[in-house]
Amino acid sequence: MVSILDVRPSRVIGRESELATIRDFVAGIPGGPRSLLIEGEVGIGKTTLWRAGVRAAQDQSHRVLTCRPAELESRLAFGAVIDLLADVDDAVLASLPAPQRHALEVALLRRETSPAAAVQPREAAVAALGAIRTLARSAPVLIAIDDVQWLDAPSARVVAYAVRRLEHEPVGLLMTCRDELKPPFQLEQLRPEHEIARLELLPLTLGALHRLVRERLGLSLPRPTLTRLLRTSGGNPFFALEILRSLGGEMPNTAAELPIPGSLRELVAERLATLPQAAREAVLASFALSRPTPAAIDSALQAARRSRSGLTAALEADALELRHELVHLRHPLIGSTLYDELTSKQRHALHARLAGVSEDPEEQARHRALAATAPDAKVADLLESAARSARSRGAPDASAELLELAVTLTSEDDDDSRIRREFALAQDLYVVGEMERARERWRELAQRASHSADRARALCNLVQFVEADFDEAERLLTQAFAEAEGDIALQATIELTWARAGWWAGRLRIAEAHANAAVALAEQTHDAAVLAPALAQAAAVAFQRGRPEWTELIERGVAAELEVEHELPLETLPRMHRALAYERLGDDLDAARTYFDEVRALALEQGDQRALAILGVPHCVTECLAGNLELADARAQEGAAYAAEAEVFHLEGAYKYAFALIDAYAGRADEALAGAEEALASEAKGLATVALRCRALLGFVELSLGRPEAALAWLEPLWTLLT
Ligand SMILES: Nc1ncnc2c1ncn2[C@@H]1O[C@H](COP(=O)(O)OP(=O)(O)OP(=O)(O)O)[C@@H](O)[C@H]1O
Ligand SMILES: [Mg+2]
Repeated sequence: MVSILDVRPSRVIGRESELATIRDFVAGIPGGPRSLLIEGEVGIGKTTLWRAGVRAAQDQSHRVLTCRPAELESRLAFGAVIDLLADVDDAVLASLPAPQRHALEVALLRRETSPAAAVQPREAAVAALGAIRTLARSAPVLIAIDDVQWLDAPSARVVAYAVRRLEHEPVGLLMTCRDELKPPFQLEQLRPEHEIARLELLPLTLGALHRLVRERLGLSLPRPTLTRLLRTSGGNPFFALEILRSLGGEMPNTAAELPIPGSLRELVAERLATLPQAAREAVLASFALSRPTPAAIDSALQAARRSRSGLTAALEADALELRHELVHLRHPLIGSTLYDELTSKQRHALHARLAGVSEDPEEQARHRALAATAPDAKVADLLESAARSARSRGAPDASAELLELAVTLTSEDDDDSRIRREFALAQDLYVVGEMERARERWRELAQRASHSADRARALCNLVQFVEADFDEAERLLTQAFAEAEGDIALQATIELTWARAGWWAGRLRIAEAHANAAVALAEQTHDAAVLAPALAQAAAVAFQRGRPEWTELIERGVAAELEVEHELPLETLPRMHRALAYERLGDDLDAARTYFDEVRALALEQGDQRALAILGVPHCVTECLAGNLELADARAQEGAAYAAEAEVFHLEGAYKYAFALIDAYAGRADEALAGAEEALASEAKGLATVALRCRALLGFVELSLGRPEAALAWLEPLWTLLT
């Protein structure tokens, strides 16, 4: 049998300077985060060098996490992270805080979950970072990703999240990316430029090509032939080897006899054509299945009514290889070449067969989608339920992909299913930060949905995009309210959205009227999940308006909150608002501390990072007032860390203020002044209250330094603001 690929990857030929770069990179990992990206055209030798990097790291006893994502669209949610963390044992996961551990186990399919206990997208990323940090405490870690361009979206998000947040941990990132294909994230957006190295692989030299041909094929070519081979192959090792192999053992006598093939792909295709049909089928199955075990390939061959010897033949021809009990392609090009050659009919048939072979519901759904030629209710249902499960695992990005397929496969006359799927899709897009695409979907739904309640919901969702234009928000909400006629819970939600929009626009009177309307409607629903946030908002507005009834509203809200059955974001709920209000009152520190401790414990339990980020500053202020500077500092540090992790950037100024306040209380006047000025500067466009507090602090410190004039300069503008 002619071997498709008789090269053994263990020895790297030539590439001395590249290998030196790789060795330096690996040796530098103990010194802190760094990344190396190997780039170049197909077959130029990226994986070969990547493997050398992996071996070098293993030789240095680094902890090596690898994954080699595959090309085909049937990539599964978190598939790459599952591979990266495959050998990480449960003890590491057990060392993580309980919510993180839960999230990671769910994402990695080590534990089941239900939509009611869905993992938040960020949680899995936070947990993966936690696991990497834990590993990095006992040995330097290398995260090695071959073909990063094929990373599944949820995995790409997790890797980017973790890499961006590394500080001084000994963690290296080694990746390859094929030219002309887009990597899923830009390294320079994750790490400072000086930590990033790039290796663009150029053609092999004549000397290296000579050695390659001698070692791999046992041939010693005369120089003119070699020169011509170098030119024809462009110095691409894979191409060069394929050209020689295409001669089938008959070496040219002169350089002129060396063939000039069209492309590497054509050569590979020609050689694959010499394989028996069953072997080609085995290659296709290995290319298209996410877990190509020998048993799965065997089933695929049976489903295709091909001889089971196909796998052996493909292995013998070195088109496939067996690694860690999985059947891998010897080179990605082998799979894609065969797959690209299929007619669309053959492709549909292949996926239809593989859907029957795969055991994973998400993969089955993807194969069925690739097998479908027309709208198909059953397949669309499968896709929708796979999307639901991906979303529960913290992968709204995968869910969005599946829903997009589901929408195209939903039949024209099944309006309800289509609308439901489009809503879910818009929500997923929104959650993963694809704002414009989400907005576009909601806009369409607001116009096209056949049920008026759906149009109302879409209109209400559009409000968040027009925050700066309160008139436009009111226009959308007026229309939404009218469309929601007869649906009290929805009308309550619309009123609540209206109250929030008014609050953010500083239109407190309007906010108050709508918050009260939201409460009145929510009461009729007898649904605590609707009532609790409405009461929280009504209490916040009443507090701001100086109305004593805010206490009654908040206590009713807390009672309702305790009845809510599923987790809602704490920032919308009464207990959070109660703590914040008590901090601002400032006259019952014990109560404020009790309430903060309560919400903080809840937020920690639920892994609600946004809530922890929001709590940090007011909690710190309360502890300052109570004279517990150490605790104040701890709370501010904790909150600031959560704000960074959860990317709640609008709190940056508030945290600067908090640290300046601690300085002031600790008697570090200069630091306090500098800090508060910096905070004030960063709040130029920010929330008025932080600017207000900064000025008050600056005035207070200047006064304490005996400089009343300077104090007046800070405080005077407040007079106009407050009166
Ligand atoms: N420096 C080298 N020494 C020995 N063999 C090499 C070298 N570079 C490439 N090869 C051989 O050439 C073939 C292609 O190399 P490799 O798979 O590393 O390419 P690649 O750049 O990763 O391609 P792709 O973009 O398809 O992933 C392999 O069979 C490999 O063994
Ligand atoms: Mg490669």
